[in-house]
Amino acid sequence: MDPFTIAVFISGNGSNLQAIIDNIESGRLPIKIAFVLSNDPNAYGLTRAKNHNIPTHIINHKDYSDRELFDGAILKTLKKHPLDLIVLAGFMRILGKKIIDQYPNKIINIHPSLLPKYKGLHTHQQALDNGDTEHGSTVHFVTANLDDGPILGQARLTLRNSDTPDTLKTRIQQLEHSLYPTIIKWIAEETLTIQHDKLFLQGSPLSKQGYQLPMSDV
Ligand code: GRF
Repeated sequence: MDPFTIAVFISGNGSNLQAIIDNIESGRLPIKIAFVLSNDPNAYGLTRAKNHNIPTHIINHKDYSDRELFDGAILKTLKKHPLDLIVLAGFMRILGKKIIDQYPNKIINIHPSLLPKYKGLHTHQQALDNGDTEHGSTVHFVTANLDDGPILGQARLTLRNSDTPDTLKTRIQQLEHSLYPTIIKWIAEETLTIQHDKLFLQGSPLSKQGYQLPMSDV
């Protein structure tokens, strides 16, 4: 049987991609990455992929005069590979409805806030500005509405007085590197399933906030 196969979409550093690769190579995550796609030719994540002999595709949004053409190029690349899941890991472009409609419940994203709080950008600054006591990251299915699909899981931390957007980014990414591979593994082995927009973990319904990663001191 073919292994559960994913594509990972990135735009930058790719530390979440690295966490997925490390989990695969250590045998904890029995899946295959068919390719890594980046819209930014200079994304460091491309080097990470190459270091592990994972094929890469660059689809630079700047080479396309409009969103539809960019989406068309992505779709063409996707169609060349049989995929079980598309994993957005720091991919900073919005995927068009045409792509999302062709992969229902097959695209997931990791977003650095406790959704539904703080969709979009500058999430750490917003958590600080609002004096939040906790903050975190969310893995969710991608739907046509930004950062809005059913929530698969969250990792949370307690804010410290000394936190800045940079410290929060570092602390939250440590949690993401554990949360994201865990969720992908559960989807691959069908431990985590979706039926009629409702999520189930080992057959039991999950709350709207999804699986909660146990708190750790990051
Ligand atoms: C992550 O923190 C994720 O929450 C957000 O973008 C960041 C990507 O980081 N969507 P990296 O490229 O995986 O290091």
